[in-house]
Order: sequence, then C-alpha cells, then structure tokens
Amino acid sequence: MKIAILGGTGKEGWGLGFRWAAAGHEIIIGSRLAEKGERAAEEMRAALPDDAAGAVSGTDNATAAAAAELVVLSVPYEAQEATLADVRAAVQGKLLVTVVAPLGQPKARVWRLPSGLSAAEEAQQQVGEGCTVVAAFQNISATHLRDLAHNPDCDVLICGERAADKDVVAGLCRDAGMRGVNAGALANAVIAEGLTAVLLGINIRHKISGAGIRITGLAEEE
Ligand SMILES: NC(=O)c1ccc[n+]([C@@H]2O[C@H](COP(=O)([O-])OP(=O)(O)OC[C@H]3O[C@@H](n4cnc5c(N)ncnc54)[C@H](OP(=O)(O)O)[C@@H]3O)[C@@H](O)[C@H]2O)c1
Repeated sequence: MKIAILGGTGKEGWGLGFRWAAAGHEIIIGSRLAEKGERAAEEMRAALPDDAAGAVSGTDNATAAAAAELVVLSVPYEAQEATLADVRAAVQGKLLVTVVAPLGQPKARVWRLPSGLSAAEEAQQQVGEGCTVVAAFQNISATHLRDLAHNPDCDVLICGERAADKDVVAGLCRDAGMRGVNAGALANAVIAEGLTAVLLGINIRHKISGAGIRITGLAEEE
C-alpha cells in the first residue's frame, strides 16, 4: 500500500513507517516542512535492510496525504486539529488511521479526557464523513520500533465503525510484527488512548520503556 504518515518525522510515525517499508509498503513521510520530511525519509532509507522492498519518500503533510491510499496521523494531540485542517481535502475517500493519544498536562502519565469525545472521534468530526477514521497503535511504544528483530510485547486495539476497515489495519499490524484486535466502535478508542497514560506511568515507575497490553483468551492466530 501507499501510506502517508503525517508527522512521520516523529518517533512513533517514523518507527511504524520503518516497519511497513521493511515489509514492502510505499511510505511517504509527511511534515509541516517538506525538507524535514525529505530528511526523515533519507534517514529511513539508510536504516532499512538492503533487501527491504518498500520505497520511502518525504514531503509536506498535504502532498503526502494527496499521494497516498491510506493516511496515518501521528502528531501530538495538540497538533491534531491544525494538521487535519491542512489535509482535509486530500483525505476524502480514504482511510485515516490515528495513533494520537491525548496526554495529560503537566503529567503525561495522568489521563485527562479532553472534551468528552475520544481524540479519534474528534478526528472523525474534523475530517468529515467523506473520510473514515480508525484508531490503532496508541499503546505501542516507539522505543523498539526501529529494531526489526524486536517483537513488541503489546497487542494493538483497533477501533472503528466498519469491520472491513479494521481488517485493513489488522493487516498493517501483522506487517509491523504485531497482533491487532478488533476493539469495537470508534468511541471505544478513548480506552486505548487512556491506556497510553497508564503505560507511560508504568514505564516511569518500573524504569522500562516498552510496557504493553495483551488480550488473553484469543486463539493464537487471531
Ligand atoms: N512516542 C511513543 O512512544 C508513542 C506511543 C504511542 C502513541 N503515541 C502517540 O503518537 C503521536 C505521535 O507521537 P510522537 O512521539 O511521534 O510525537 P512527536 O515526536 O512529539 O511529534 C510527531 C510529529 O508531529 C509534528 N508536531 C509536533 N508538534 C507539533 C505541533 N505543535 N504542531 C504541528 N505538528 C507538530 C512534528 O512533525 P513536523 O515538525 O515534521 O511537522 C513531529 O515530528 C502522539 O499523539 C502520541 O501520543 C506515541
């Protein structure tokens, strides 16, 4: 797939893009500044194994979104509204996968619900009904994504309205070496978003960097 990652210059988006490029996807790194996106793409190409099949390029967010089949939003919650306003026209008719977790201020490890909706539901309102939002990857730490041999010890909760869209995202989870679990409606994304603060706190208290969650009771292949 041709995947644009808005804010793919940052830790989480870059790490996911790296894994998808290694799996053969075409990655377009988006940034507020085209040159910053190009630099991040150059770094990703240099870090990929020689036999990696995927192509990587970088540009500004709106150009990246326009060129892609699927768009990933990976910016801080505070930047979500402005980023989506910039790409609103370009994402119509496409799937937008949001990894955004709104973290509390001043302590990121203390959860605060921003407005009564999940950030993912807000994203759906911000892009309009012509674009379909699915929430995923909120609980995957960026720390080990650059290490392709590392198996993230965390399931991905996938929230959205349509099973077919969530199946597409489950495929992206597999391609990145993770298990995606259909976690229901987009409203449920508030749980995954809140868990991010809980996991961050666990990381701090236990002096680790990759605390995660597992859903038990599922057949291995699900
Ligand atoms: N890091 C993790 O381990 C992790 C884990 C799970 C979920 N998440 C979530 O994933 C999202 C991205 O996380 P991250 O750690 O990659 O974030 P980040 O590195 O702080 O930011 C990602 C990118 O967003 C853009 N950005 C930053 N501040 C902005 C602003 N004020 N206005 C517009 N754009 C801005 C920047 O891109 P340009 O300057 O190139 O435009 C930046 O490179 C967040 O919502 C976070 O909660 C992160």
